[in-house]
Amino acid sequence: MDKIVIRGGQKLKGAVKIGGAKNAVLPIMAACLLARGESVVTNVPGLRDVVTMKSVLERLGVRASLNDHTLRIDTAAMDGFEAPYDLVRTMRASIYVLGPLLASHGKAKVSLPGGCAWGPRPVDLHIRAMQELGAQIEIEHGYIIASSSGLKGRPIKFSIASVGATANTMMAAATAEGKTQIINAAKEPEIVALAEFINKMGGAVTGAGTDTIEIEGVKSLRPTEFATIPDRIETGTYMIAGAITAGKIEIKDCCPQHVDSLSMVLRQAGVGVECSGGTISIKGRRDIASVDVLTSPYPGFPTDLQAQYMALMSVARGNSIISETIFKDRFTHVPELRRLGADIKIEGNTAHVGYVKRLSGAPVMATDLRASAALVLAGLVADGETHISRVYHIDRGYEGIESKLGGLGALIERVPE
Ligand code: EPZ
Repeated sequence: MDKIVIRGGQKLKGAVKIGGAKNAVLPIMAACLLARGESVVTNVPGLRDVVTMKSVLERLGVRASLNDHTLRIDTAAMDGFEAPYDLVRTMRASIYVLGPLLASHGKAKVSLPGGCAWGPRPVDLHIRAMQELGAQIEIEHGYIIASSSGLKGRPIKFSIASVGATANTMMAAATAEGKTQIINAAKEPEIVALAEFINKMGGAVTGAGTDTIEIEGVKSLRPTEFATIPDRIETGTYMIAGAITAGKIEIKDCCPQHVDSLSMVLRQAGVGVECSGGTISIKGRRDIASVDVLTSPYPGFPTDLQAQYMALMSVARGNSIISETIFKDRFTHVPELRRLGADIKIEGNTAHVGYVKRLSGAPVMATDLRASAALVLAGLVADGETHISRVYHIDRGYEGIESKLGGLGALIERVPE
């Protein structure tokens, strides 16, 4: 097992390129099951989660290859319908095969995802939506056993604008009989990308990006080619890296609009944020001001940047309040940031972050993907060395973070634990 070692204090400078979006490519990989033949997806990030989804598809008899950020997914020989526990427990997004399997094969056996450190993460909205489209669903031995003799479109209203449930329902409804309407749908850019992918396969999805999505079911879909959108969470993470180190960096191949909520608070904090075309220029400064945030569904402030933003606020002048409304217990990074000297108090789903002059390097442990990114950012400004263990978490969502940060002047390396 590796760990990452960072010697803090370098002002980052130069340019970094952003890769394709993990949270867009995962549902798109599942959506390939909706058509017979080979689909090609480009700008695919080299991440552990992409490899896991590839394994889930291969267990279904799909032939898949990933070379040089290009995925070829061929469903011609597909004969399976089970997503096993040993894979699903390592990645909740494996549940994305539920809708496509029901739509394309009329049956699916998908393991229920395991527990999560952030509290309960049920999949009840996914299951209810499949039932509303006419599927029979049993939960047995930890598996969702689903079957259908033909899905039928109808209005489906979500109590929560769930990204995952919106994606699964869109895929299941793409070839259902008649029209499906998703009310209170998620509006994330990854949902818009999935709708574009389904439409490129010959689907009829409208309204993606708004809270009401309409899907006119079509008889069949065909394989296609698609380029993945940039990863807005990776983009945001590097924006904060530039800000926290008082650096001057350019973030390329990204989509500035997708991180407007972060750009807004960074500007309020006194950070220079210039956007032009697919590039964001960050000009950080030592005396950053504290600015409160509250996470919410897109276009609100993303929960997937909450931990990274907390690292920044831990060295910002004044006190800040960070409220987490999506995953109420998503604070597993707090005890580790405190080990680096941060002053953070938790009350319910709110973190009160006080100002400290400096952080000091220490051994810390990554607990999940975004928490590990926050520890890397804190390590960039902490005095001395920070040793981050369990970095396999970071490989789930960041491709080559050491080489990218090293390219910006950070003193960072990956060493065997
Ligand atoms: C997606 O997770 C992302 N994952 C998460 O990013 C992200 O944090 C989350 O959306 C919110 O933006 C992927 O795209 C693979 P939700 P998802 O369904 O789909 C509740 C990362 O770091 N809910 O929008 O699982 C749920 O408990 C990951 O890249 C139900 O109650 O999130 C949560 O409170 C972490 N029942 C809220 O809805 C359901 O059936 C939003 O969850 C489904 C969700």
